[in-house]
Amino acid sequence: MDWERALSFLDRERALYTERNPRSAVLAAQAAVHLLLGVPLHWMRDWGTPFPLHVAHASGAHVVDADGHTLVDFCLGDTGAMFGHSPPPVQNALQHQAGQGYTTMLPTEDAAVVAKALSEQFSLPCWQFALSATDANRYIVRWIRAATGRKKLLVFNGCYHGTIEDVFVDLVQGQAVQRDSLLGQVHDLLEHTAVVEFNDLAALEAALRAGDVACVLAEPAMTNIGMVLPAPGFWRAAQALVRRYGALLVMDETHTISTGVGGYCQVHGIEPDALVLGKPVGGGVPCAVYGMSAELAGHAVRAKADAPPGHSGIGTTLTGNMLSMAAMRATLTEVMTPAAYAHMLPLAHELAEGIRDLLAERRLPWCVTELGARVEFQFCPVPPRNGSEAGARLDAEPEHLIHLGLLNRGVLITPFHNMMLVCPQTTAEDVQRLLAALAAVLDEVVVEAS
Ligand SMILES: Cc1ncc(COP(=O)(O)O)c(C=O)c1O
Repeated sequence: MDWERALSFLDRERALYTERNPRSAVLAAQAAVHLLLGVPLHWMRDWGTPFPLHVAHASGAHVVDADGHTLVDFCLGDTGAMFGHSPPPVQNALQHQAGQGYTTMLPTEDAAVVAKALSEQFSLPCWQFALSATDANRYIVRWIRAATGRKKLLVFNGCYHGTIEDVFVDLVQGQAVQRDSLLGQVHDLLEHTAVVEFNDLAALEAALRAGDVACVLAEPAMTNIGMVLPAPGFWRAAQALVRRYGALLVMDETHTISTGVGGYCQVHGIEPDALVLGKPVGGGVPCAVYGMSAELAGHAVRAKADAPPGHSGIGTTLTGNMLSMAAMRATLTEVMTPAAYAHMLPLAHELAEGIRDLLAERRLPWCVTELGARVEFQFCPVPPRNGSEAGARLDAEPEHLIHLGLLNRGVLITPFHNMMLVCPQTTAEDVQRLLAALAAVLDEVVVEAS
């Protein structure tokens, strides 16, 4: 990247953003009066824009901002809207439920239907719910600790499973360290969490050998430090090790559900002991699910029966509420369908190939990684093999510059690294619009590799 050109481009893009978005500027100023850091969730500052873009409405693959621009959305709420904004079946279900009550702390007939659909799609027989993937991860880890009597959690370096505290342990020069950016963290996370590199079977075995690991919590392919795909045969061998040392395998499919029908595990024949799915499972309505094998469920039920009376520490009041159950029923039975994937997967591949062409034409030594409907370009010539390699290539400044340039040209991609999602309503024209915008931005800031 030519930094002098890039910085001058950034100045111009920031000015252009400010000029294009006067209504967002007013709304941002109003919001700043009573909102901590000016936004409902401080992550909304991470877009690298001079002030937060405000949204008027979103539908399908498009977001209309407060100033009336229609943006093609490849961020899709960072996966929450992976099946498009306001999918009509979810809209209908919510409209119907809107006059029937939202929460009673009792099940409706949707409960059994949703659980059956989950069992069929993910090949695990027993399910519970949460309101976020974070909580679903937190709860399954607690059930497993209770069920196995083991305390230790094993994760892969660079993982992200939401803000479940236990996972914020990184490998720094081979040493496990607690992440220093955590706010208000008072517990020693190193006590019960071990961390190894993804795709490193020897390290995995070494960490499991003592026989004290309750479970390995993993994304089947890493997506949160840039994408890292499993090496061929990795999961087959890893799962054999996990079983040999009496631990359980929990797959967090919250992002990898992009792979295909039933997520990565179904597509690749992995049989986890437990599975977590949040974000898009309710079409963007807050909810999440976690499933377990019959054996684990048996142990979990026994652990609850054997525990003294009182709070389990698992669950929240609105979990399984009527609105989110209705949204999940519609999503699982009418939205996350084979037909939806049949549209998304080839179009995402077209997008990936288009980006590869753009990079090749400019002789840029970057690579493009695909995970079904999810595509990412990374600032390295070959795909990273683990979290350390992927993390080393993250570079917030060029990322923000590219994202802002795209936004000003009517295209949204995720504010974290360079990740894009194709949804059932994304069209070939939308993909061409992204490619044209990316070409224009790259031509402003990069120097061809010689
Ligand atoms: C793999 C994975 N698991 C869990 C989460 C947490 O989701 P939420 O923030 O909805 O709790 C994320 C969020 O990005 C994720 O990528």
